[in-house]
This record gives sequence, C-alpha cells and structure tokens, in this order.
Amino acid sequence: MVQLPWANWNGAAMPLTDITVSVLDRGFLFGDGIYEVLRIYGGRPFLLREHFQRLRRSLKEIRIEADVERIEQRMHDTLRESGVQSGLVYIQVTRGAASRTHRFPDPPVAPNELIYVDAIELDPYEPFRNGGAKLLTVDDVRWGRCDIKSVNLLANCLAAQAAFEAGCLEALLVDRDGTITEGSHTSIFGVHNGRIMVTPMGPHILPGITRGLMVKLADRAGVEIVEGRLQRSALADLDEMFLTGTTAEVLPVTEVDGRAIADGRPGPVTQRLVAAYAAYLRDWLAE
Ligand code: PDD
Repeated sequence: MVQLPWANWNGAAMPLTDITVSVLDRGFLFGDGIYEVLRIYGGRPFLLREHFQRLRRSLKEIRIEADVERIEQRMHDTLRESGVQSGLVYIQVTRGAASRTHRFPDPPVAPNELIYVDAIELDPYEPFRNGGAKLLTVDDVRWGRCDIKSVNLLANCLAAQAAFEAGCLEALLVDRDGTITEGSHTSIFGVHNGRIMVTPMGPHILPGITRGLMVKLADRAGVEIVEGRLQRSALADLDEMFLTGTTAEVLPVTEVDGRAIADGRPGPVTQRLVAAYAAYLRDWLAE
C-alpha cells in the first residue's frame, strides 16, 4: 500500500507530501500553468479522452509545450500504483522554474508536471444530493479567458469563500450585465417549461466535461436542451436549477440568495438527469 495522495513529479513517483518545488516555479509566482481534475470510478478515469482533449487545448492556448502522451502514461501508472478505486486525479502543468520575468523564459525551461491521485472516502456533496444545494450570487470578476483551465483561481476562491461564509455550497458568478456565467467550480443549468437552458460556450466559461456529458444525456433522455444566457433577474421564473462538475456530478439547486427556486425542491427534470448520469456510469463501469 502506498501513501495517499500518491503522486508523480516530473516522472518520479512519491507521496504528494514528499514533493518540493522551487519558489521560482512560474505557477507559484504568476499562476502560469494549467490543470485538470478527473474522477476515478472503479479504479478507472472517467471521461478520460475529454479531459485530455481539454488539457491539450489549455496547454496550447497558453503556449506550454509538454508531452501529453507521457503525462497520460504517467497518470495511468500513478493510478495503478495508488490502488485507488474511488477518487480523483489532479494534473497540473506549469511553464517551469526560471528567474522571475513576466515574459516566457528564454531559453525555455522544462515544464513542471504534477500528477496525484487521492481517494474520495466521504463525498462532500452527498448531504445535498436529495434536498438540493443553496447558492450565493457573487460578481464574476475573473479574466477574459475562463475557457482555459488555468491555475489562476483567485476570483474563484474568493467567490467560494463568500458562499461558504453565507452558509451556501457554491457561488454563482454573475457578469456585469447580470448574466449568470457558471459556478466557482461547477457548470450551471436552468430548467424552464421542461426545457434545459445552459450557458453558451465561449471565453467567459470553462467548457465543463460534465456539462458536455449532460448535453448528451439530456438529448438521449428526450429532454430539450437549449443554449441561452441565464439572467439573475430571471431566476424567479425558473422551474428547476442544477449544477454539474467532475466532483459535484449532477446536483439539484434549490435556493439562490435565500430565495427558493420554484417550490424549493429538486424537480423532475433534474431527477431524470441524476438518474441518467448514474445509468451512464453503471454502463461505463460494466464495459
Ligand atoms: N472544477 N467551471 C469551473 C470554473 C470549474 O472550475 C469546473 C471544474 C467546472 C466543471 O467542469 P468539469 O465538469 O469539467 O469538472 C466548471 C474542478 C473540478 C476543480 O477546479 O476542482
């Protein structure tokens, strides 16, 4: 049995807590890096292809050259060595350690690649799966490229903390024009007249992998799904609301800013999608 979280640091396998990183790492100094989080079910990474596609894209968008195939191989090795059945994988790639200049190091330095696997023993979302979650709206003060899964998460951290201090599970980020973009670490969906509404993809949101699966599952379940900008002012008209994410999976939202969504109970469309997610997972585990 290895010590969890079990990690791989630039090719070397070790417990996560044994890793030491240069303070000149550009992830540390500038937030100059990207990351991915995958769920492990039954000892296997869920939605692997999709997560690695997004990882590649994030790297390309910020011009870090890393060997993604090697990262993937190391991830599989780390997972196997860890023995984790139910958990998550965290992958982070930064532009590496070099003397502090804003422009990229010249000559380039090797990226710093971190992979770790940890078990999920207690699902923090479990208490909210039946009754639903309360959310708090917070101004979306992030940068203009939220489609890149960058490790610059200060605005997300501040939003999540504000939600926590208000007794809420998650923050709902609201643009200057009153549009809800997404959660601090989740994608958001509204349901109105039996139709699901989801924020259109673009630079203002992360292309959520679970969001992508939801679009597919809604389609299969015969629930109409349309792209549309959800306004904070229109929350009172919603019949249902739910959020999705790698760790949150599909979770009903029953209250925003102290006001109930419809009757304040998880609705039938959300419940159908929770069931569709569980069925999809069951089938995948049986493959
Ligand atoms: N967060 N939006 C943001 C801003 C996120 O950070 C995340 C994921 C999502 C959901 O994306 P996905 O379905 O691919 O997990 C949406 C991860 C889990 C995190 O930061 O821990």
